Amino acid sequence: MINPLRGMKDLTFDESARFVHIVTTAIGIAKRYGYSYIETPILEETALFKRSVGESSDIVGKEMYQFEDKGSNDVCMRPEGTAGVVRAFISSKLDRQEMKHKFYYYGPMFRYERPQKGRLRAFHQFGCESFGEGSVYEDFSIISMISQIFEALGIGFELQINSLGCTTCMPPYKQNLVGFLTNIKEQLCEDCNRRINTNPIRVLDCKNESCQTLLKTSPKLIDNLCSECDNDFTKLTTLLDKEGIPYTINTNLVRGLDYYNKAAFEFVSNDIGSQSAIAGGGRYDRLVEFLDGKPTPAVGFAIGIERIMELVKMPQSTREGIYLGAMSEEAVETLFSLATTKRKETKVTLEYASKGFKSHMKGAEKAGARYCALVGEDELKNGTVWVKDLESKEESAVLREHF
Ligand code: HAM
Repeated sequence: MINPLRGMKDLTFDESARFVHIVTTAIGIAKRYGYSYIETPILEETALFKRSVGESSDIVGKEMYQFEDKGSNDVCMRPEGTAGVVRAFISSKLDRQEMKHKFYYYGPMFRYERPQKGRLRAFHQFGCESFGEGSVYEDFSIISMISQIFEALGIGFELQINSLGCTTCMPPYKQNLVGFLTNIKEQLCEDCNRRINTNPIRVLDCKNESCQTLLKTSPKLIDNLCSECDNDFTKLTTLLDKEGIPYTINTNLVRGLDYYNKAAFEFVSNDIGSQSAIAGGGRYDRLVEFLDGKPTPAVGFAIGIERIMELVKMPQSTREGIYLGAMSEEAVETLFSLATTKRKETKVTLEYASKGFKSHMKGAEKAGARYCALVGEDELKNGTVWVKDLESKEESAVLREHF
């Protein structure tokens, strides 16, 4: 027997029903915010992720499904969706239009991580990317859209926000931070020491408790933002307060991908164990330019679908459609035209085997059908169909042409 690979799983029955419910709910809300669907390839040039997510990130450094294809191209299974959407935005020259573009997507992402509860190697994201809007109001709209999606799915969350500044305030802050970190270098873990030179702000979200104790007195970017970033951050928190979206400011929230600036955020759930981030995102105003497009401000997010799978409150299932069966051999083939007609408007479960009444009633229950429709010898003779509404329990004989 061949099983799925480690860290990968099939979604069937209850889980696939949950998956569909999550995606359709999110799509419905994203459309109301003006997003349209984009589909990009799962396989991309490795260079795309190196240049966007960043060579010093764990995702690119350790977790990529990277290989050489038969044409000797260095390719990679996408570890996230933003880079591909940005590439597509530039490939189709949308960066040259003076228009705003908003895209949503969902699909599998691949990261060669150590699997554990909530952490898979093949997982699914639902994400949105908004291009061309530099206003912090768009950051707020995105955060409120995610809150609305979680609310519609019945999921409680804690929102954490931070600002990662811009090219004016981040470089002097980084220098300041490197100075602080160099002084406590000996006491910091190996990973932090490596990051002091490659990506010092990543030291701030080290999971090691003793590092975190030492970092308590580190300089905070939030206290060193330039006036534009500071104003934007204040506008964002004021709006969140006004609109009643609770949040906490987490000055150590730096995100695991290098492309962010200004607002960065994470939605966290306290009900799913250590892998608690259920969505993450932020602004990435320099990425389009970085991938050779025309400078375009952008902001987006992605929700981890498997992470919220157990949390989502499913709508009560209601009876749906028609169960159609025959009670004599001759009647079986007369069912197809009835099924084709009815399938134009509703779900039809068509039973091929001729069976007795009780057995069909059981089948209709199992199918979750609203109606049980049967054709036996009498119905065949009279040109009728026997129909029972399984909710109201009403029974009737309906002429075939009126069925
Ligand atoms: P991310 O924070 O790396 O951001 O991933 C988003 C979400 O995907 C996480 O919050 C988590 O729920 C889920 N996730 C990540 N890794 C795994 C895993 N190994 N197993 C299960 N779920 C996982 C991004 O990917 C950015 N592209 C988000 C973004 C869009 N930023 C701007 N636009």
